[in-house]
Amino acid sequence: MTRRARLSGLLLSALATTVYGANDTKTFQERCLSFKPDIYVQNSTLNVLEYVPSATNLTFPDNDPTCARASQMAYADLCRVALSIPTSNRSSITFEMWLPESWEGRTLATGNGGIDGCVKYEDIAYGTANGFSRFVTLLCDRSSSLCNPLNLATMIRALTDLQYKLIVAALGTNNGHNGTYGNAFYHNEDIVIDYAWVSLHTSVDVGKRLTTLFYGESAKKSYYIGCSLGGRQGIGSAEKFPEDFDGIVAGSPAVNFNSLYSWRARFFTVTGAPASEDFIAADTWKTTIHSEVLSQCDGIDGVLDGIIEDPTLCHFQAERLLCGSTDNTTADCLNPAQVQKVETIFSNYLWPNGTVMYPGMQPGSEILAADGLYSGQAFGPSTDWFRFAVLEDPSWRPATYTLDDSLIAAQKNLGGIRTWPSSLAAFQSHGGKLLTFHGQQDQQISSFNSARFYGHLASGMGYSQEQMDEFYRLFRVPGMNHCSGGPGAWTIGQGGSDAAYGIPFDRAHNVLAAVVDWVEGGLPPDTITGTKFVNDSVSWGVAYQHRHCRYPSRSTYKGEGHDPLIEDSWECRDAVVG
Ligand SMILES: *[C@@H]1O[C@H](CO)[C@@H](O)[C@H](O)[C@H]1NC(C)=O
Ligand SMILES: *[C@@H]1O[C@H](CO)[C@@H](O)[C@H](O)[C@H]1NC(C)=O
Ligand SMILES: *[C@@H]1O[C@H](CO)[C@@H](O)[C@H](O)[C@H]1NC(C)=O
Ligand SMILES: *[C@@H]1O[C@H](CO)[C@@H](O)[C@H](O)[C@H]1NC(C)=O
Ligand SMILES: *[C@@H]1O[C@H](CO)[C@@H](O)[C@H](O)[C@H]1NC(C)=O
Ligand SMILES: *[C@@H]1O[C@H](CO)[C@@H](O)[C@H](O)[C@H]1NC(C)=O
Ligand SMILES: *[C@@H]1O[C@H](CO)[C@@H](O)[C@H](O)[C@H]1NC(C)=O
Ligand SMILES: *[C@@H]1O[C@H](CO)[C@@H](O)[C@H](O)[C@H]1NC(C)=O
Repeated sequence: MTRRARLSGLLLSALATTVYGANDTKTFQERCLSFKPDIYVQNSTLNVLEYVPSATNLTFPDNDPTCARASQMAYADLCRVALSIPTSNRSSITFEMWLPESWEGRTLATGNGGIDGCVKYEDIAYGTANGFSRFVTLLCDRSSSLCNPLNLATMIRALTDLQYKLIVAALGTNNGHNGTYGNAFYHNEDIVIDYAWVSLHTSVDVGKRLTTLFYGESAKKSYYIGCSLGGRQGIGSAEKFPEDFDGIVAGSPAVNFNSLYSWRARFFTVTGAPASEDFIAADTWKTTIHSEVLSQCDGIDGVLDGIIEDPTLCHFQAERLLCGSTDNTTADCLNPAQVQKVETIFSNYLWPNGTVMYPGMQPGSEILAADGLYSGQAFGPSTDWFRFAVLEDPSWRPATYTLDDSLIAAQKNLGGIRTWPSSLAAFQSHGGKLLTFHGQQDQQISSFNSARFYGHLASGMGYSQEQMDEFYRLFRVPGMNHCSGGPGAWTIGQGGSDAAYGIPFDRAHNVLAAVVDWVEGGLPPDTITGTKFVNDSVSWGVAYQHRHCRYPSRSTYKGEGHDPLIEDSWECRDAVVG
């Protein structure tokens, strides 16, 4: 049997009886505990079935410690289901689904990150709590410590009489293996394929059907949220399974996956190890080089705030840091080999035939990249991907990486993982909407790749910007690191961080709300207003808000006399697609 046939045969729908009978007098808790998901999902094993009252601090003692997700607050009364589902005779996924008592007819699938097999419990909790966050925002005095998410549990208990609306039945998986390492890929292509696409698609298939069984009606709409690898999973799903989702939020997507992993593997060969000659110390990146980047590029947008609004306008000239090129003190300069390294990092990475394999890193991200891709340590996920999946050689040493390895990765394209569609027409004609965003100081995935993908898709479909706007919108978020964090107004509801509970759940401020309104109300998002909290904590209050523009327009300062910390001091102006 083919994998597709196996998947579609997963559920025994004939036996279906719903938890909600017409004259059912059972409580929600009783309904939950009488649910038998494992009977409906063939060959599955029930790991957990429990009723979870709102404000429960769930703990996951069996969760792989490298996932660093030992506990998660639940902000809704819900029924928690965890299953193991075989996907072949040598692979399986761990499936997690939270079915809230108060339900508005939607499902939300969540993605993964890196080469992880980690369930993002925080995103599942966020999905089931969204109505709640909207409610908290209305009542919450931002100067009060009550707004600290750690105190949400107390708030929920105090406010149980009040109605709040929940939105989704949320689900996620371990993407086919446990933990943040890639050794499970070794000599088991089924696990690689689970990671590439089977895990997400299976979970959506199972999740939709369990939703119908549990509530007695099918979900009206199906959504997805993910970032990084999760962004790639969302775009990959729109390509391979255009009917799985009606709306997709795909952040900082790891599209062109093989090239991304080659680009990441190359950094170690460019930087060398910390003891090597001409190594650039983290401190030099964070002070000397970052200051020079800001001195050349921070002012382009008209505001010296440490944030480069549009790094595509920053053509950084590393040679200005060359010792002796100015009258700077020698402590603040680079030797020629170091200048060359900086130039290599900021330039496009090319195939032997001279075409672009992957765009250069955008300037501005060096504060975090200094301790990551530039640290002189081989990048673990890339090493594991090459060692265990691509080259199947556990003794492979990352210092030996060359373009030959990247050619092998591209040729094998394991599990069809590349994710570089030149059309998403089937997704669009199904009515699908895709909102993508990318932090403009992403230290893990160059934000230039999202602009490049936009161009690739538009030219592949023969679409103008107006036609792209019908179903695919990219929001660039200045001052945001990889997926979250950074000096910019980065809180846009992109997942279950504490800050996400402090912003209004509406289309103007929250990407998930925006995609729901786009799909169900025909209201496309023109801009997304991001929020920066003092100390990135809701309890410290809002530092400022900033309106993020949809590509290719860019946020432009209105100029003298305006306060740059006020949202209306900026406007979205057109820029040419490049
Ligand atoms: C369930 O297990 C049986 C026996 O191992 C196997 O024949 C069948 O293909 C499995 N079904 C699915 C959907 O995996
Ligand atoms: C529900 O119960 C009422 C009263 O017992 C009965 O009249 C009605 O037909 C029942 N409805 C269904 C769908 O069974
Ligand atoms: C939940 O419990 C874990 C383990 O006891 C603890 O570390 C964590 O801080 C708790 N979370 C909250 C929000 O209280
Ligand atoms: C992954 O961890 C879960 C517990 O979180 C466990 O039930 C499952 O068996 C593990 N899967 C594998 C393949 O080890
Ligand atoms: C697992 O399934 C494959 C076909 O998908 C088959 O070739 C192989 O023999 C099976 N292995 C075992 C141990 O059953
Ligand atoms: C060196 O001097 C030039 C010109 O004065 C200045 O633009 C640059 O920022 C200085 N570089 C450093 C690292 O201080
Ligand atoms: C250049 O090489 C890459 C990698 O082999 C290949 O994918 C691409 O099609 C080539 N481009 C041209 C224009 O030959
Ligand atoms: C951030 O929090 C620390 C305490 O953790 C505090 O000392 C500091 O003043 C806060 N920063 C701002 C800008 O309020």
